[in-house]
Amino acid sequence: MQILSEATTKQGNPKFLEALAGKAHKAPPMWLMRQAGRYLAEYREVRAKAGSFLNLCYTPALAAEVTIQPIRRFGFDAAIIFSDILVVPHALGQRVEFREGEGPHLEPIKTIVDLSKLSVSKAHSTFEIVYEAIHKTIAGLEGRAPLIGFCGAPWTVASYMVEGGGSSDYRAAKLLAYREPETFGAILDLLVEASAAYLIGQVNAGAQALQIFDSWAGALADNDFEAFVIEPTARIVTQVKAAHPRIPIIGFPRGGSPQYDGYVAKTGVDALGCDTAAPLKTMGRMQSHLPVQGNLDPLLLLAGGDAMERRVKAILDSLASKPYVFNLGHGILPDTPVENVERLIRLVRAEA
Ligand code: CP3
Repeated sequence: MQILSEATTKQGNPKFLEALAGKAHKAPPMWLMRQAGRYLAEYREVRAKAGSFLNLCYTPALAAEVTIQPIRRFGFDAAIIFSDILVVPHALGQRVEFREGEGPHLEPIKTIVDLSKLSVSKAHSTFEIVYEAIHKTIAGLEGRAPLIGFCGAPWTVASYMVEGGGSSDYRAAKLLAYREPETFGAILDLLVEASAAYLIGQVNAGAQALQIFDSWAGALADNDFEAFVIEPTARIVTQVKAAHPRIPIIGFPRGGSPQYDGYVAKTGVDALGCDTAAPLKTMGRMQSHLPVQGNLDPLLLLAGGDAMERRVKAILDSLASKPYVFNLGHGILPDTPVENVERLIRLVRAEA
């Protein structure tokens, strides 16, 4: 493990970490989920050079380059390491492919025998590639922005592992959870162990904040939300905090706004990432407990115009007087015009 020098950890732009530590900014820090991606011509160029998406994730110099691109172009207040939540099952030994225009395909885990082929000890050599990308990114950022490390939360990653890809109703994952709770529980346990080790490794490599993406949290009834979202996330947070007590962790339980109180009280996350459907009133109420992040509709950013401007103003009016990080409510869409991103940045920063 390479030891970070003073110079590489020096932070020229502290706004994002300050907000996570509880400071309010009139012009809040901002970054966008999936900010490195296909809406940027310079990303498409590197992506073409890399050939496959996974090859881009696993080539540290290229992953670092695309991580830095949006910082160079827009001066966002945080960078997020370029990778994917499905790197974890892939590292554990599951077959994962990203087919052009189709999204991810995995060889589904159906039984305890399928699961027994996966192991955390196998994963470390793949995780090391991401850590190397983090080292290269930190060096290339030169303190312009702090770097966020991330993983998917166990429920969301398990749903991909069991479904074999995206799903509209999580049928296979839920049926496994309901019919064979021990097998499903073993998948969550494996993911807790792997994800905690992976996040700790990312911090050791230089990540200055973490985000846990639970994209499908909103699909669960309240008892299952407790068992599959809150409980495994709490175990990850406990393990990461044991190794790195001061690292800020953002939880993003997408679709989980009715359960925010329990999620925040029981997981121990330091900040709450909010999706598009989370009411501003709810986000404002959560700010008396912790900093919040979000939640402009990515389609409003794609549309631009007055509708976007009105909503950005409403979000800032509601949230910017307390600790807050501006972001979208979900990832930026590939066909988003770059001019709209530039306009958004002016709107958020004009409040200074
Ligand atoms: O935010 C960033 O800029 C960091 C990189 C990042 C990616 N995926 C890159 C990516 C992050 C944080 C993710 C998280 C991720 N991946 C989530 C959680 C957040 C969310 O969006 O709900 C999920 C569910 C995935 C799984 C995933 N990866 C899907 C469903 C797809 C296909 C859909 C698509 O947009 O193509 C991916 C591929 C993917 N991950 C791309 C990128 C930039 C597009 C692939 C490409 O460039 O060819």
